[in-house]
Amino acid sequence: MVTIQSKEGLQNELHAHRQGNQKIALVPTMGALHEGHLSLIQEAQQLADIVVCSIFVNPTQFNDPKDLEKYPRPIENDMKLLKDAGCNILFMPTVDEMYPSDDASWHIDLGRLDSLWEGEKRPGHFQGVTQIVYKLFRLVEPDIACFGQKDFQQVMVIQRLVELKELPVHIHICPTVRSKEGLALSSRNTRLSETGKQKALAIFRSLSYIKAHIHNNAIPEVKEEALHILTEDEGITVEYLAVCTARTLEEATQIEPGETYVALVVAWIEGVRLIDNMILT
Ligand code: PAJ
Repeated sequence: MVTIQSKEGLQNELHAHRQGNQKIALVPTMGALHEGHLSLIQEAQQLADIVVCSIFVNPTQFNDPKDLEKYPRPIENDMKLLKDAGCNILFMPTVDEMYPSDDASWHIDLGRLDSLWEGEKRPGHFQGVTQIVYKLFRLVEPDIACFGQKDFQQVMVIQRLVELKELPVHIHICPTVRSKEGLALSSRNTRLSETGKQKALAIFRSLSYIKAHIHNNAIPEVKEEALHILTEDEGITVEYLAVCTARTLEEATQIEPGETYVALVVAWIEGVRLIDNMILT
């Protein structure tokens, strides 16, 4: 694995591979890697000849400066994990490299995606995500880019970016990797105590309850019970729990045949914001 910090260095490295007609896959991350990220690397390897992973804690997508400050950065361990996983190129730029002082301001029309759920709760977050992902796409010009279903709305936002900017990249969505008990792996889980991790299992239980019952029951009743499951234990605060049409992320009032639905949840435990979802079909 080669580790590169400059944009120019990355482009030089990629040039040779492109000349050889090799397919390039990009896996953008913010580091603090776990099995979820590594599953993206593995899928990327199946789909392309060269896997580029970026590690960049992107300041423009953090609406809470404390969250940015607290973001874990175990870089030595990340490098070892990526090397063992067979990643070919690690791109690890500095903030100045990605955001030179003459950088133009960025705005992209994400429609309702910018005001629903994560869009509403984290103002500016998706503008920051699209800003950095667009820079990475322009730089790497990947054939394929892998993203996790774990961040369901983020995938939709990226797909919209690709459409609006007419980028020739295929977005590959990878399933959410969970612990044996069902907790969606996340870099933020390291901030939870063992008790907190146990409490967090209620998230998976409530999503599974919705999936099992949504087709035979009215949505408000299923949601009420799911909320009950989620808050049975003390110490969990629910930010939102919603059943939505997967196509638009608008809240669903009833289940229509042929439509796909997704349950979205954000809950706080021990000061940590946990996000998860489940496709209900
Ligand atoms: P980060 O949170 O590091 O996640 C990088 C990628 O890993 C995302 O596509 C995310 O959905 C995926 N991922 C995280 N946990 C996962 C899990 N348990 N199972 C499967 N995939 C998982 O998402 C970001 O970084 C940033 O917003 C980024 C896209 C890199 C832009 O800065």
